[in-house]
Amino acid sequence: MRWFWISGCVLILAATTVLPGLAQRGQFQPRRPATAFDNPPQAKDEEEQKLLNVLAEMRKGPRYANVSEQDGRLLRLLTEATNAQHVVEIGTSTGESGVWFAMALRKTGGKLTTHEINPQRAQIAEENFRRAGVDDLITVVVGDAHETVTRIDEPIDILFLDANPEGYTDYLEKLVPKIRPGGLILAHNMRSPPPNPDYVEAITTNPDFETTFLLMEGSGIGVTLIKR
Ligand SMILES: C[S@@+](CC[C@H](N)C(=O)[O-])C[C@H]1O[C@@H](n2cnc3c(N)ncnc32)[C@H](O)[C@@H]1O
Repeated sequence: MRWFWISGCVLILAATTVLPGLAQRGQFQPRRPATAFDNPPQAKDEEEQKLLNVLAEMRKGPRYANVSEQDGRLLRLLTEATNAQHVVEIGTSTGESGVWFAMALRKTGGKLTTHEINPQRAQIAEENFRRAGVDDLITVVVGDAHETVTRIDEPIDILFLDANPEGYTDYLEKLVPKIRPGGLILAHNMRSPPPNPDYVEAITTNPDFETTFLLMEGSGIGVTLIKR
């Protein structure tokens, strides 16, 4: 009886302290039942299959805060659904989100301009884009995006913010005038890590914007429409 009581206490202690800590650090994944919601993306043609294969390979290598598969699928979906012609990304890293965008841009006939401050990551991204056969759709701009975005001289259909969160409001100020009416701002990391409150304030209090937050999966994405 005593042992039963002690092992019960140990189990409760583990469930309430150790396991959530490990889960936070990504070492322990609490089990949840697999559902149809977890089904992987289904390739419609060979090109899509090739890009999904490259993404799977990329996920096996070193990753630097790249988007989750769920977030990547959302980027592709919104880009294709809006028939985007010019996507601008802040924060290329090694190019996973870039490949998701390219999957849609192949269909819309559009292109991606992506900005990265770290030259080594930019180089890996360029190699990945070549490997995926989408380098013709993507321009990688190396440098501090606070400066490099000031050189953008074409209208933007989708702006994807996925770099230093403290810089989101500066990117917003510099780039909103270049986003076409009806275009979108997609802001990554709206759930985890905690978002920049000034940015959240800016996109939720301006009558020119309609914003919603998709926070159930991945790191959370804020979707802001530039009203017509
Ligand atoms: C979260 S990662 C981007 C992940 C990428 N979008 C993906 O899903 O594959 C953020 C990247 O932003 C870059 N970054 C941070 N500050 C930046 C700045 N001021 N200008 C350009 N890139 C910056 C970092 O070097 C890092 O590679």
